[in-house]
Amino acid sequence: NPSVGLVGWRGMVGSVLMHRMQEENDFANINPVFFSTSNAGGAAPSFADGAGKLEDAFDIETLAKLPIIVTAQGGDYTKQVHGELRRRGWDGLWIDAASTLRMNDDSIIVLDPINRDVIDAGLSGGVKDFIGGNCTVSCMLMGLGGLFKNNLVEWGTSMTYQAASGGGARHMRELLNQFGTLNNEVSSELEDPASAILEIDRKVLATQRTGVDATQFGVPLAGSLIPWIDADLGNGQSKEEWKAGVETNKILGTGKGTAGKEHIAMDGLCVRIGAMRSHSQALTLKLREDLSVTEIENLLAKDNEWAKVVPNTKEASMAELTPVAASGTLDIPVGRIRKLEMGPEYISAFTVGDQLLWGAAEPLRRMLNIVTG
Ligand code: HSE
Repeated sequence: NPSVGLVGWRGMVGSVLMHRMQEENDFANINPVFFSTSNAGGAAPSFADGAGKLEDAFDIETLAKLPIIVTAQGGDYTKQVHGELRRRGWDGLWIDAASTLRMNDDSIIVLDPINRDVIDAGLSGGVKDFIGGNCTVSCMLMGLGGLFKNNLVEWGTSMTYQAASGGGARHMRELLNQFGTLNNEVSSELEDPASAILEIDRKVLATQRTGVDATQFGVPLAGSLIPWIDADLGNGQSKEEWKAGVETNKILGTGKGTAGKEHIAMDGLCVRIGAMRSHSQALTLKLREDLSVTEIENLLAKDNEWAKVVPNTKEASMAELTPVAASGTLDIPVGRIRKLEMGPEYISAFTVGDQLLWGAAEPLRRMLNIVTG
């Protein structure tokens, strides 16, 4: 079995990855070497047999002995370690959840149910850096793969409803604390059905404006939303919005001048909402052909085993097309598919995905399996 260095396995994405690897018995195919940025010499986790002691995640010599390194440690770690490893001639495979290397010409964004062809071509062409995509992009492509892979999308907008987990574990805690603070503020009024709702609303608003801890998000999220995610690129676009376009095209291998693989314009607005770990997005797609809704639904349903078409009814949408329904599962529900008034090639769609599973851990786990399984 190949030795695989695992870095950042204790964080939120890393924990989800470890959990999935145990569930799928992936540790049977590898000899795991666990690294730590803070506790080298401590005991390695017990979920893999014979893993021994934790190695120092900044020890380049030890890292360089490994044929494969998987990291969910974050972008700062990648910046600090990856370049140094490569400069000293390390030619192992680097599988990474962070965005640092994603748009490099010599890296591939991994989402194998969508771009196995791109991954295989990269492997045979000597590519060594395989990077997980932005969570929103990966979840969108998993849900709508049947349209994107068949070159049926001319352009699209993605208007997102992104969960707190995209910011990190502390952001999830902060959201829940904010909800708690707001509830505490008005709990006695809430118990009294005769209390005045406008008075409750006034107290909640006053607390949102002055009394909730918003250290992580910067502004209150509970009972509100934040229409900006990630850095301000200075041109009116957020970095998260920029990623939608560039990563979609990189994953699909579109836009390189090949016939049938034209660039797909994807743009929209990214918004943080008070969901926990599933990102949702509302899409407007301009298709290259006038397909019936049934044809579209069939293409989506048969593209991959995780895309779950939800019939465009109120009942099904409310039950199956929500963060609560999708979270903790590998399903990518996709629904609200209908023709828009703009014309027969214009459709709406809504899709939801657990941003820690398909949005982060699962593409890395599957990439590791492609090279070790
Ligand atoms: N940037 C994403 C977010 C998470 O903030 O929701 C990582 O892809």
